Amino acid sequence: MANTNGKKTYYITTPIYYPSGNMTIGHTYTTVAADTMTRFRKLQGYDTYFLTGTDEHGQKIEKKAAEAGVTPIEYVDRIVAETQDLWKLMNIEYDDFIRTTEERHIRIVQKIFRQFYEQGDIYKAEYEGMYCTPCESFWTPTQLVEKDGVKVCPDCGRPCQPMREESYFFKMSKYQDWLIDYIETHPDFIQPAKRANEMLTNFLRPGLQDLCVSRTSVKWGIPVDFDEKHTVYVWIDALSNYITALGYGTDHDELYQKYWPADVHLVGKEIVRFHTIYWPIMLHALGLPLPKQVFGHGWLLFGADRMSKSKGNVVYPGPIVARYGVDPLRYYLMREMPFGADGNYTNESFLTRMNADLANDLGNLVSRTVAMIEKYFDGVLPAWDGNTEEPAGTELRAHCAALPGLVDDQMAKLQFSQALSEIWKVIGECNKYIDQTQPWVLGKDPEKKGLLGNVLLTLAECVRFVAVLIGPFMPSTPERIFAQLGVEDEQLKTWDSLKCFGMLPDGLHVRKGDALFPRIDVMKELEALSGDSGKEAKKEEKAAEKAEKKDQKAQKKEEKHEEPEFPAEIGIEAFDQCKMQVARVLDCRKVEKSNKLLQFRLSLGADGERTILSGIAKYYPQPEALIGKQLIVLANLAPRKMMGVESQGMILSALDGQGNLRLLSVDEGAEDGAIVG
Ligand code: MSP
Repeated sequence: MANTNGKKTYYITTPIYYPSGNMTIGHTYTTVAADTMTRFRKLQGYDTYFLTGTDEHGQKIEKKAAEAGVTPIEYVDRIVAETQDLWKLMNIEYDDFIRTTEERHIRIVQKIFRQFYEQGDIYKAEYEGMYCTPCESFWTPTQLVEKDGVKVCPDCGRPCQPMREESYFFKMSKYQDWLIDYIETHPDFIQPAKRANEMLTNFLRPGLQDLCVSRTSVKWGIPVDFDEKHTVYVWIDALSNYITALGYGTDHDELYQKYWPADVHLVGKEIVRFHTIYWPIMLHALGLPLPKQVFGHGWLLFGADRMSKSKGNVVYPGPIVARYGVDPLRYYLMREMPFGADGNYTNESFLTRMNADLANDLGNLVSRTVAMIEKYFDGVLPAWDGNTEEPAGTELRAHCAALPGLVDDQMAKLQFSQALSEIWKVIGECNKYIDQTQPWVLGKDPEKKGLLGNVLLTLAECVRFVAVLIGPFMPSTPERIFAQLGVEDEQLKTWDSLKCFGMLPDGLHVRKGDALFPRIDVMKELEALSGDSGKEAKKEEKAAEKAEKKDQKAQKKEEKHEEPEFPAEIGIEAFDQCKMQVARVLDCRKVEKSNKLLQFRLSLGADGERTILSGIAKYYPQPEALIGKQLIVLANLAPRKMMGVESQGMILSALDGQGNLRLLSVDEGAEDGAIVG
């Protein structure tokens, strides 16, 4: 679409990420790709719009916040701030960052949901499934996992019970044939093409299930405004972000009018299904055009595994950027694997590429070119000598002139790695050209001055082309190259200036600067990097060990039935300082990696909820059985962290005759939060 300035528009999005933990190099991968593409289209003169954001609702966030002892919004606010800092660090220039907890999003999601209901796309029904009480989650039979012959919850491994819940459903099946036809007649819609086949074969042709789009058990979500027991469940909330951010459905929908339909949604391959089945159906039901393309890229793996916190193999960009700068990491992410395929992140391949591609190929080309202009022409770019033939460079000059077109072809297909490979082919050819023409030999012969000038001019112009074209990938590198070439005229940094080869004016003063990318000692850096990224993990490990040791000490004391030493008597004011309260167990589960600890989520009535850890796991092998019970807690005990979780109080217990710890409770009828005294 052309906007009012006659410029073509380009709208690109990333998925909105779950702020359940800090963003990894995996999230960074998609975001850098979107930023690179935006910068490329901007360079070409498009009117671009780049949207990213966070998907903040749902049970997982609710749970994480509870574990951290904060409200969900407090929890996500912190992660969102850190995410935005990371994008700044990565030199990501988005136009908007949408948060699904923002009013502008919530209002329109409610409106969309209502419209679906009113036009008969959404209906209310009973949802029947297997329910995990502690996780408050429904699972389909295929999601359950089998443990000792019992079907258990895939999250916590505890048995599930059949349960019914009232839900709203979207009639996906109604649109199935239309979508099959759409995908078949729009081969560019789903890319890479093999993903389109997967969608057709695995989901669409076998028949679509209606989609559950509301929940009554998830509180941290957008309320369905005509039935407030329900919150909008996951995908209608999340996917709508791509249009709510543009003001769709409001009186100020100028951005929507200008940029929708999106040119491309970039998504990881695991969420292609939602973007190419549910989202098109939702849009079609709203009478809106579909995005032009959904591109499902591959995963950045670590070894053979997908990165995951529980496997302890997550890579964060921070330490890498702190050590080597942003551009090498951006380059590596876009260069290492074809967009669409999986690839491995290893520190070794990153460092090797830094040395080979950046320090050697690009860095050397720039420094040799500038150094030779300094040496043979006192740092002033000579004019082209029309009387001197310079046949050795004819091919190179033609190749370089064609380079913008070659890069554009690859970028139009989102083939970042191929686009860079085209640029590096020219860089390689330039380095060969230096070896072939041997300027240091020409420099000895005053009669060859014209030829030498033409060689160096060819190189300088190639370097300028390269500097302009790598800008979208490595935004801070071009200026460093232009500074060395003495290029100040902004015109010479544009896409248009690449229309013909030979635009560099004579008389420019080159200035040798620091090496663009200094060579590094890979072995030494490998050690340093594993130290850096290992540090965080080690810190956590140590803290866990310490907590476990402390626990063991307490446990031993308990096992020896050591009584604490009490003073003979205390005043009532000492007792009054202990705030003991009745608390109801909302959730109870074993703490991962601990044999002793149970983690309780407790309601203290009007005093809110809190998390308390207690070393009684061995006395209560079925912790979920405690859910619903009323216990007594010491509520004003100073909080302390164990196994990475903050315990906010103490649950009172006493030994029975067999040496088992038993929890203190109250007779029925006590109020949650009531003071014990
Ligand atoms: N909130 C949903 C998306 C809703 S979009 C309407 C979600 N969030 S997420 O936080 O799990 O982010 C997933 C996305 O992060 C992937 O689709 C991908 O873009 C990116 N990646 C996260 N880890 C990744 C790798 N290890 N490798 C490549 N991309 C990865 O799903």
